[in-house]
Amino acid sequence: MGTVDQHILQSIRAKAARREGIDREEAVWFLTQDDTATIDELADTANAMRARLLGKQACIHGIIEMSNICRRNCLYCGLRSSNAALPRYRLEEQQIIDLAVSAVKKLGYKMLVLQSGEDLHFTTEQMIRIVQTINKTSGALVFLSVGERDRIFYQKMWIAGARGVLFRFETTDPKIYEEMRPTADYADRMEHLKFLKEAGYIMATGPLIGLPGQTMETLADDLLLIRDSGAFMVSMGPLIAHPDTPLAGAPAVSSTLVRKMIVAARLVMPRARIPITTAMEYLWGDDFRRLALRSGANSFMLNLTPAEVRDSYDVYPNKNKLAEHLHTPTAFSQVNGIIEECGMKLCLGFGADLALSSEEFAIGCSMPQ
Ligand code: 5AD
Ligand code: SF4
Repeated sequence: MGTVDQHILQSIRAKAARREGIDREEAVWFLTQDDTATIDELADTANAMRARLLGKQACIHGIIEMSNICRRNCLYCGLRSSNAALPRYRLEEQQIIDLAVSAVKKLGYKMLVLQSGEDLHFTTEQMIRIVQTINKTSGALVFLSVGERDRIFYQKMWIAGARGVLFRFETTDPKIYEEMRPTADYADRMEHLKFLKEAGYIMATGPLIGLPGQTMETLADDLLLIRDSGAFMVSMGPLIAHPDTPLAGAPAVSSTLVRKMIVAARLVMPRARIPITTAMEYLWGDDFRRLALRSGANSFMLNLTPAEVRDSYDVYPNKNKLAEHLHTPTAFSQVNGIIEECGMKLCLGFGADLALSSEEFAIGCSMPQ
């Protein structure tokens, strides 16, 4: 290791000791490391920082995929509008409400993500009814993951009781963004992040790792954007090539790179919630779950979409065929087992107090049990 490397490594260690986030140059440096000992050392540092600042809890969040219909045509995604091979579905309003309420009352979930493609069939009024009813009957902390809707929509959804958004920006590189999302506009995406934060939402955001043209600099910029957007939670995952998309031949993303992104995210944002997302579990299973949890990650997502339609939520091939991330008693205890193996305890989040700020949410979830 040269003197420059030694200097950067020392600086990262010192910042971690002061519980301070690392900067762009340090993040780029770390992402380009391929020396296992260095990666392992800083993964341990990230893990220790998570333990010191956020305690032993790892949360499980539930996700309900309401519709796989999407008006966009992103080059990487199986839900893209040009994919005629995909059977489309849309859950009924009452079905969504019942699923959410029983997830809270029967299964103990506190935070639920309502996700869909950009399906404008769900009107503002309908989404208001869904969120309001879920909120009144279950008290769940509802996160929306429905893509780009206008500011008024999101303001109304806030009033209806939605408190979080899962809204990936996919990449900070405007050229890659516009190439990958032909009908979307980079400036609009950034504008959404801004007004979602201003509206008071707890935000989860981040990139897709493995887009063509992405570099370690782009990925470091992605982490800085998560930090600077005021997000509380990271949402990122590896690209998985889908045969019915233009990116069918995209090269596989390495698990080491994704692990390094988790470590770097923790080093950049010491207090963020960092979930192990489904694409990671899909590719690398329980071994990666353990590794990620010991490298700074601290939450999981389990899928609550009903069996009849879940195979069609085909963002990447066979996404929902993996039993481990579906909510079944076995999968749930499996995740719980991994959490305990890693010296942590299950935290299902906590009751959705509508007056809660992002900061309180973060603190509340990191209270020692
Ligand atoms: N592989 C992995 N993740 C994908 N997404 C879309 N397509 C893929 C894919 N092929 C992610 C995007 C999007 C979310 C719905 O799923 O990041 O935001
Ligand atoms: Fe639609 Fe999102 Fe897939 Fe793009 S990534 S096609 S917006 S579901």
